[in-house]
Amino acid sequence: MSQEPIQYAADLIRSARHLVILTGAGVSKESGVPTFREAMDGLWARYDPQQLATPHAFRANPQLVWEWYEWRRGLVSESMPNAGHMALALLEQLHPGDVLTVTQNVDDLHERAGSQDIVHLHGNIARNKCLDNCQGEPTLIENLDPTDQSVPPRCPYCGGMVRPDVVWFGETLPVHAINRAIEASQLCDVMLVVGTSGLVNPAAQLPMLAAQNGASIIEVNPDTTPITPLAKVKLTGASGELLPQVITALEG
Ligand code: OAD
Repeated sequence: MSQEPIQYAADLIRSARHLVILTGAGVSKESGVPTFREAMDGLWARYDPQQLATPHAFRANPQLVWEWYEWRRGLVSESMPNAGHMALALLEQLHPGDVLTVTQNVDDLHERAGSQDIVHLHGNIARNKCLDNCQGEPTLIENLDPTDQSVPPRCPYCGGMVRPDVVWFGETLPVHAINRAIEASQLCDVMLVVGTSGLVNPAAQLPMLAAQNGASIIEVNPDTTPITPLAKVKLTGASGELLPQVITALEG
């Protein structure tokens, strides 16, 4: 790579007709939302996913799991989009081609930054659904009964338990979300991969799929990941610092 990496990334993005932005927990870290796999402060370093993020865990100890998600909801609602989210929203606005953001994050920080076209592969932590999807998959519960003191609350349709609308280990991803992500990954000419460890499938396979179909991969991450060898450009560092520089280079 002869060019300076930021400029090279901007040039690749500028030339893309179809751009996919794939994000993971790292993009929200500078907003104060913890990542999962970082050694010191990742959630999975402090908590056991088998006790908190599986359907079995929820059925075994619904109160514990519900309260853990309530804690995470609190973190998300107190957080604000950071400069990385803002840069990605601006990129969607500025770019003449089509731009799709595919996120593994269950927060709404891309939406709050202004991104419009977003696929949430792993659900949305702010939403709830019936554990048994009694009215069909998914049975979203828009309004919980304010007088219901149960933890977790009760489904207004069947009286069963309400759970967060997120994807747990061992569950399949929402079909429309993964299908749209796969189609866009096959079609894109550039994929910008930001803040993901690239360890959780099927999301981790999307950059591979894009590269196999001829797309250039740009990775933004302070660490090396399984995606790094695929990347034409690696921007090593925090997305909140580097993505605004990419926007400046694009505008220049
Ligand atoms: P991980 O916690 O596995 O990885 C976070 C990545 O962000 C790491 O590669 C970090 O190096 C990187 N990172 C840290 N700070 C960053 C920063 N400021 N800017 C850019 N990158 C930074 O999170 P995910 O890859 O998103 O699934 O994890 C994938 C899935 O595993 C999650 O969606 C979640 C989890 O279990 C479910 O809950 C279903």
